[in-house]
Amino acid sequence: MKKFVTIKNKIKKFKKKIYISGDKSISIRCILLASQAIGISKIYNLLESEDIFNTLKSIKKLGINVRKKKNYYEIIGLGLSGYRSKKGLTLNAGNSGTFARLILGLLVNINEEVKLIGDKSLSKRDFSRITEPLKLFGTRATTFKNKLPVKIRGAEYLRPIDYYEKIGSAQCKSAVMLAALKTPGLTKIKAKRSRNHTELLFKSLGIPIKTEIKNNYDYIEVRGLHNFKGFSYKIPGDISSCSFFIVLTILSDDSELIIRNVNINFTRNGIIKILNLMNANILISNKKKYKGELIADLKIKSRKNLKSINCPVKYNTTAIDEFLVIFLVAAKAKGTSTFKNLEELNQKESPRLDIAIKFLKEIGIEVSRNKNDIKIVGNPNLNLNGKYIIKNFRKDHRVFMMSCIAALSFGGYWKIYNPESVNTSFPNFFKIINQLGIKLI
Ligand code: S3P
Repeated sequence: MKKFVTIKNKIKKFKKKIYISGDKSISIRCILLASQAIGISKIYNLLESEDIFNTLKSIKKLGINVRKKKNYYEIIGLGLSGYRSKKGLTLNAGNSGTFARLILGLLVNINEEVKLIGDKSLSKRDFSRITEPLKLFGTRATTFKNKLPVKIRGAEYLRPIDYYEKIGSAQCKSAVMLAALKTPGLTKIKAKRSRNHTELLFKSLGIPIKTEIKNNYDYIEVRGLHNFKGFSYKIPGDISSCSFFIVLTILSDDSELIIRNVNINFTRNGIIKILNLMNANILISNKKKYKGELIADLKIKSRKNLKSINCPVKYNTTAIDEFLVIFLVAAKAKGTSTFKNLEELNQKESPRLDIAIKFLKEIGIEVSRNKNDIKIVGNPNLNLNGKYIIKNFRKDHRVFMMSCIAALSFGGYWKIYNPESVNTSFPNFFKIINQLGIKLI
């Protein structure tokens, strides 16, 4: 692949219907749970991206059989004690925070020491948020100054824990839930609300779990050591990948897009809520439930009169991966938008809050910051004609894709580095841009 893409023109008007590839969070969770089931699981529409390939490679190293069939992946689980480890086993999570954090939960009963490593970006992220609660179960886990590599050796006798998760991190909550699966007795979790795919999968697999929502917290109880059988799952479209095309359509002229079969789970639909408050008009149709997940078609139209927003913080975790593109809409809206308590944005594949502020300033948008709150002064007449070079963003896939959307929406001459980064979460990104009429690669 090229070192950078060059974009010299705004996208012309389009009217299309598209499908987006499978949800990354659910893909990783399905593989991991299938690897713990007894017997064959069939996973349809699995996202075929680097994060998922690293997940598959790692469970294979742990002794699990995986077969790619014509339109599904077959995973043959060996039950809750089925992982096999050899001395000196190293798992490489690549760029995937979700896989790296969740697999640690499943290694709490592994009998040899396993070392977990990742790429440069993942090696800069915090892992003590996972190892600390896992140690309470009795497992041994060490980090290097709170970062990778993590070394974990399971305990023979695990004890259930009471865990209070304060960040609103689904990865932390899920790692603890997966560890609870392997632990006798009742693990109790109070977690600041975050995406609930693990809870829904546990329920659909008949794993003993109770959930309750009270005052913006999830209260979860998991009873461990319940074996479950292999299952079938059809992964719905990823709303985080859709977000780039939702925003491209809103910001383009006279365009319309229908995206079919998108997961709009209420713990993930913040982008729809936020953009509709900004006067976008995202219509939802054909709603259906699948194993607890809400799936629908989205219809998006270009919008001229975008309004600024004082973004309710209750939407922060439900749109956590979409803020980069939401900021582009704020840049074009009338008035000043405010976003608060965004500290977690700096804990992602790159420090996204810092990067977004620098990016917006570079394209001439007035932005001010107070700790983790930002104000963006929108410019409804935003039309760029300068030269913009985007590089050094830790190859963060979402920063790359956001930059392409800015270039295609606002004009100007752009050189955007690291196009290969899309392979982390969305290898079809360029194919869909192509479907909308522009060839970038
Ligand atoms: C994810 C949870 C979120 C999100 C990430 C995927 C998941 O991270 O940003 O892209 O699949 O559980 P945190 O758990 O750190 O909030």
